[in-house]
Amino acid sequence: MNILFLLSLLLFPIFYLLIWRKRLPLKRLPPGSLGMPVIGQRLGFLWAMRANTPEKWISDRAKKYGPISKMSLFGKPTVLVHGQAANKLVFTSDGSTMSHRQTESMMRILGDRCLLELMGQDHTRVRKALASFLKPDSLKNYVGKMEEEMRLHLQMHWQGKQKVTVLPLMKTLTFNIICSLLFGVERGPRRDSFVRYFQQMMGGMWSIPVNLPFTRFNRSLKASAEVQRMWKQLINEKRIELENGASSHQDLITCLLSIHGEDDQESMSEDEIIHNLILIMVAGHDTSSILITFIIRILANDPSIRAAVLTEQEEIKRSKSSGELLTWEDLAKMKYTWRVAMETLRMIPPVFGGFRKTLEDIDYEGYRIPKGWQIFWATCMTHLDDNIFPEPSKFDPARFENPASIPPYCYIPFGGGPRICPGYEFAKIETLVTIHYLVTQFTWRLCCNDNSYRRDPTPVPNQGLPIQIVSKEGSAAI
Ligand code: HEM
Repeated sequence: MNILFLLSLLLFPIFYLLIWRKRLPLKRLPPGSLGMPVIGQRLGFLWAMRANTPEKWISDRAKKYGPISKMSLFGKPTVLVHGQAANKLVFTSDGSTMSHRQTESMMRILGDRCLLELMGQDHTRVRKALASFLKPDSLKNYVGKMEEEMRLHLQMHWQGKQKVTVLPLMKTLTFNIICSLLFGVERGPRRDSFVRYFQQMMGGMWSIPVNLPFTRFNRSLKASAEVQRMWKQLINEKRIELENGASSHQDLITCLLSIHGEDDQESMSEDEIIHNLILIMVAGHDTSSILITFIIRILANDPSIRAAVLTEQEEIKRSKSSGELLTWEDLAKMKYTWRVAMETLRMIPPVFGGFRKTLEDIDYEGYRIPKGWQIFWATCMTHLDDNIFPEPSKFDPARFENPASIPPYCYIPFGGGPRICPGYEFAKIETLVTIHYLVTQFTWRLCCNDNSYRRDPTPVPNQGLPIQIVSKEGSAAI
């Protein structure tokens, strides 16, 4: 008896130790430091963004700490995860383990009923409504309308000019396309007011959320309130148009107003419509404009890529009579041009990464990510991984000839899973139409010797990318 008792006393700590050792790693926080209170790693990260070295900043951390590490960003304890498995974890998590996370300024400016704030069934319902207009089947009817905006844009801003600055012009173009196609707001005083308030609103999107009369954030909130007021008025007008027999396919707003639930009520509340219109304005304009700008830059820098894009676009142009509009089928033929766009998105993604918030403790790679922490994902960690994309710093559109060769959750410029960008097709059409017109009607070269760009937080080329342009003689009248 005594021997058994002594044995159990001896074995108990060993068993305990074994179980404890097995459980311990799951309870450990990831390696890394949370840095100084409040400041954390914010300054280092923002500095790296400005200096256009965030990829190095992140990969240095990855080398030092491995696949998961902790830090503090924007005042919140944060875990950086990276790699294929980490992307899968972030993008496939259901709304019960992680929610979207945006900065407080963004949340207050965009509104609390926009997709980024919604979860579960609300998220699914609102996404479904937006997708009913943004899906290819619906968008293919609007290629001509997009093209009309493009033609007007060239007449106003490119024809007769010798020098243009690309980024601001592409922002104007994509804003006008969204106003016309999605909101049904044509050129005129109303669109001009939208532009003015929108620019003020964007000014405070990344500012510190201090709402005092002299702050950027305050100006932004006021502009957001003004934009919301204008939309309320527009929505009322659209309701009357619909009652008078207007088509529900006129634009995104009429489409959303026409979706009814089982109780025959409008499926989206007015706040949901307004907050999501603001989100689309922000998400759809600051991304496509950057993609198109950097394609224009690569076409200036690389004559062989420019020649291949031109050959593809000239062939499509030759197949059309003068003034004939592009069709959905024409866009489907622009395969090489879209591969150039995809490679541009791989190397210079407009969205660098994003945040999620954990809604419960999550165990990953033997560490615990506590409830309420931020998870930070970054595109560059797979986009620039030479095991996934050999010679990652080489611009090579041929990588996308066989999309099946790219492992899942590794190419993520549009995110993934249930929150994947619903504007993918819209962005694709905009980009292809724009590049078609530009390469078939103009040649250009960069004015600025300095080819660099910074992140603000989206990539911004030096001086906005000024170029010298020459209109091609004999190009069809626009
Ligand atoms: C080149 C162009 C674009 C890029 C690179 C891009 C990228 C992204 C990414 C990475 C996300 C996911 C963010 C996350 O998971 O945290 C996203 C979401 C979103 N994008 Fe885009 N986007 C583009 C164009 C557009 C356009 C044209 C629209 C609208 C017409 C749009 C509307 C949205 C919306 C509403 C969401 C939120 C989706 C949700 O939370 O369910 N985007 N986009």
